[in-house]
Amino acid sequence: MYKRYIILFSFFMSSIFAIMAQSIDNNEDLINLGIIPAPNNIFLKNENSDINTVNIFINNEVDINFFQQLFKETKGITLVKKESSNVHLLHFAELEKEGYRLDIQQNKIEISTSSPTGLQYALVSLTQLVQHHGFPLPQVIIEDSPKFAYRGMHLDVARHFFKVSDVKKYLDYMAYYKFNNFHWHLTDDQGWRIEIKKYPKLQEVAAYRKETLIGHYNDQPHQYDGQRYGAFYTQDEIQEIVAYAAARNINVIPEIEMPGHAQAALSAYPELGCENKQYEAATKWGIFEDVFCPNEVTFKFLEDVIDEVVTLFPGKYIHVGGDECPKEAWKKSAFCQELIKKENLKDEHGLQSYFIQRMEKYINAKGKQIIGWDEILEGGLAPNATVMSWRGIQGGMEAARQNHDVIMTPGTHCYFDHYQSDSADEPIAIGGLTTLEKVYGWEPIPETLELEKRIYILGGQSNLWSEYVKEYAGVEYMVYARGIAMAEALWSRQKDFSKFLNRYENHNDYWKNRGANMAFHVYDLIPKIKAGEGKPISVSFDMPQNYTLNYFHKDRGSIILFQKDPIVIKTSGNHTFRATKGNKEGRPLKIDFDLHKGTTASIQLKNNPAKQYSGNGSGSIINGVKGNDNKYGGSEWLGFAGSDCIATLDFGNITELNEITFRFFKGEGQWIYLPKNIEILTSNDGIDFKSIHKISDISTKTKIATISQSFKNLQTRYLKFSIANYGEIPTGKQGAGHKAWLFVDEVVIR
Ligand code: ACM
Repeated sequence: MYKRYIILFSFFMSSIFAIMAQSIDNNEDLINLGIIPAPNNIFLKNENSDINTVNIFINNEVDINFFQQLFKETKGITLVKKESSNVHLLHFAELEKEGYRLDIQQNKIEISTSSPTGLQYALVSLTQLVQHHGFPLPQVIIEDSPKFAYRGMHLDVARHFFKVSDVKKYLDYMAYYKFNNFHWHLTDDQGWRIEIKKYPKLQEVAAYRKETLIGHYNDQPHQYDGQRYGAFYTQDEIQEIVAYAAARNINVIPEIEMPGHAQAALSAYPELGCENKQYEAATKWGIFEDVFCPNEVTFKFLEDVIDEVVTLFPGKYIHVGGDECPKEAWKKSAFCQELIKKENLKDEHGLQSYFIQRMEKYINAKGKQIIGWDEILEGGLAPNATVMSWRGIQGGMEAARQNHDVIMTPGTHCYFDHYQSDSADEPIAIGGLTTLEKVYGWEPIPETLELEKRIYILGGQSNLWSEYVKEYAGVEYMVYARGIAMAEALWSRQKDFSKFLNRYENHNDYWKNRGANMAFHVYDLIPKIKAGEGKPISVSFDMPQNYTLNYFHKDRGSIILFQKDPIVIKTSGNHTFRATKGNKEGRPLKIDFDLHKGTTASIQLKNNPAKQYSGNGSGSIINGVKGNDNKYGGSEWLGFAGSDCIATLDFGNITELNEITFRFFKGEGQWIYLPKNIEILTSNDGIDFKSIHKISDISTKTKIATISQSFKNLQTRYLKFSIANYGEIPTGKQGAGHKAWLFVDEVVIR
């Protein structure tokens, strides 16, 4: 009783002080505290403290090993006996579980928390303050708690395996940024990675694949390394990791994929499939038609697996996957068709829903809740399921509207297997472009979601799928930079990217000094090339404040441009740009401009490209710059989801055309197909168009198709081309039954 009053009194006093002190929520000084994620309230008193070393006694509420390691790397923090501590740990029950209050006074520091989690977060913030701000510490009060309750990071260990010590590194990283859920993707087509004692062939057979695809899936023909690959975690190791995570207040969510992504399991126990055949663990990436058959043998198997899984993972959730389950095997199976009738289901989607609902019942009976990817909405949502929305935000919105909990993880902002820079030097990745800035700016709650449904959005998560990440250094490269931005997107209520960048640079240096393989792209320039408006093309760059743009041109030499006005490009050839700040500089960006006749035309597109593949607008396909030969994300390629690319160009007056050349990207593994045909039309009034040529039989042996057509004495003001989307993806291919993507860039007109 006595103690509680003292604490309450001191809390009250400092709150009064806080009101009088300067609030710096949005002040430049916030940067210099160096804490990520940025705390939600900072009250800076006017003077520095006299504290030049932090002597701390920490009780067994937090993990001593974690902090011992952290303090060892932090000059100025020492673990001491209680009597010598200048940090006072106070308990204040009214604070939120994850909240904390850090009060740095003239000669001492007070930390108030209501739980071990809050205490851990307060100590991490204090450590970061010492690391990234340094002594003397400012006199400051930080009152902090997270914006979202669920702050997750996912790791796929099925495509490539990461050993126990690496998973622990991942958890340490998560703890440093106050993430609280580790989603562990343990089973997939290419390997089963969790020991299940009742099914030893999962360890002997399903944990291994014969060999692995070399290079990118889109490289044709596919080549393999001929080396058996595999590994699994023993149950002892799983328990070790779960305990390690728990010591850092991180919950572990195991994912056992069903009914799709099951080929590795089928290779060990073929009776779990619908066909009477020998299955093999997949040796390449993608979606496979061999899935669990919803028969009693399968349910018994999965229930037995769950029985062991629930003993290993004390958390509330079991993730059951549910994504990307082709229905071909079920369509062909007499057993499945019979089951659809017997259970009065509508179709195979109903069967998927039946599958998930039946497993949910079993898992709920064990006192656990299921999470599934957003496909579990199809055919009817299981009654208590939490939905992980990955194919965009629609699934999450729909689930929230049905009053289900949602974790947002849309591919556009949360997939860290995407490229993070447009630079040609990046290590091979699956595709897309998800920059640091894009991750930072992400808001997990969609603006269009009704206010009363927003409570169902628990938070968000980054995902790292490991098809193209073989070693832990690759995990560091893909995750550690963008994870820092994600931490802030999920924790901080106020965000400002340019202020964040200053803190981020310190954190980047911190991890680099610890030997992490950091990706660092903040000085990489992303060009905005303006074209398609009937004017000469120009280029500009969105650069953070305080950066200087350096421009090198073969005729004009090196020019430093302080203003950010667009630069009009008047000559073909290489133009080079580089951002600098002080003595720091980014990688040079070399753009090869080809000022063909299309670059000064205006353009109208009948169908818009998909939002995430819309380059710098419709002018991107006539801006004089060719899209990257190896990747289709970024600012050049326009991607049309199932639709045609129909463009009308106006040259302003009658113009002689001699040749038109089209470029298309082919990546059938990612549902990107060459067009069926192209029709070229001309007009002098922009109303009546005459078809002058049709191109079909479009093919390529590489990822890029270049198709040219010459003309003789063609005079026209308007040029229209209609590029027909491939249409439905054929059976047997990745994405069969879905509409193909069409990727176009650059249309060169001479
Ligand atoms: C997923 O990326 N297939 C969930």
